[in-house]
Amino acid sequence: MTVTPSGLNMAYLSNSGAEAIEAAIKIAVKSTGRKKIVSMEKAYHGKTLGALSITHSPKYRKSFESMLIPGVEFVRFGDYDSILALLKKEDIAAVFIEPIQGEGGINLPDPEFLSSVREAASGYGSLLVMDEIQSGLGRTGKMWAHEHWGIAPDIMTIGKGIGGGIPMGVTVGKREFVETLEIGEQSSTTGGNPLSCAAGEVVLRELKNGMVRQAGEMGKYMLQRIREETDSHRLVSESRGIGMMLALELKVRFVPLLMDMIDRGLINLYSGINTIRMLPPYTVSREEVEKALDIMKASLDHRLKMQ
Ligand SMILES: Cc1ncc(COP(=O)(O)O)c(C=O)c1O
Repeated sequence: MTVTPSGLNMAYLSNSGAEAIEAAIKIAVKSTGRKKIVSMEKAYHGKTLGALSITHSPKYRKSFESMLIPGVEFVRFGDYDSILALLKKEDIAAVFIEPIQGEGGINLPDPEFLSSVREAASGYGSLLVMDEIQSGLGRTGKMWAHEHWGIAPDIMTIGKGIGGGIPMGVTVGKREFVETLEIGEQSSTTGGNPLSCAAGEVVLRELKNGMVRQAGEMGKYMLQRIREETDSHRLVSESRGIGMMLALELKVRFVPLLMDMIDRGLINLYSGINTIRMLPPYTVSREEVEKALDIMKASLDHRLKMQ
């Protein structure tokens, strides 16, 4: 069963998303012989020290700043010119990008951004790493979110749903890069254990059996219904997203609203200070979407009255 983008033919198995990122950093550094990394503002790649080094948010970094790996440059998600300027110095091992920023607020790239970075990275001998830990495995209606923009990375990281609740992380890449890591240079006792692998196999089979299409179709329906029901609300500034990766941007802080929704039976996530992040299960029904919308509207109205 092949689900990885063409050319990504060697995998390293681990126990979490952050660990998959650690492996990707090491592969990039070892295979290029370079030490610098470009990452995006608002990027989230995990909390182990390597992954934290390329994660942007000061709230996660501030207590450990002095221990993070040096040589990481952050540029605005979408700022191709700054990335190009850094790549031209020819000491960048890799550019790490979430094709759609998750924790950063469900931020979609401009149409040409990823393909321009792809071309520039190849041109200057740097690797392009797509972090698909949140956006991958069908969440956006394609197996990998970067497919929406017709590009192929050199390395890709996978996590979260791959084990269906059993801990698992995967780093896949072009063999020529991945095999530069010598045996033992990156490993973990339980990485690739039989239970996680069996779970991963079932997850991939189910995804291939129509679940990815279902996520795309239901996501379209959900965004349309969210827009119909909330776009004109006085507390909402924007709704956006793709597939089952959706966001409602508010004109107020999210905290009381998110808590009120939980009290009424709807669990959502958040980003920043004013964004509600929605990552529903792919199997959500139209009835459940309507129920969620009723709760969201009730919470928004309740919050408005409290103004
Ligand atoms: C894009 C992205 N990368 C990496 C991670 C880290 O994964 P884990 O929490 O499994 O370490 C996350 C987790 O939210 C993520 O969303």
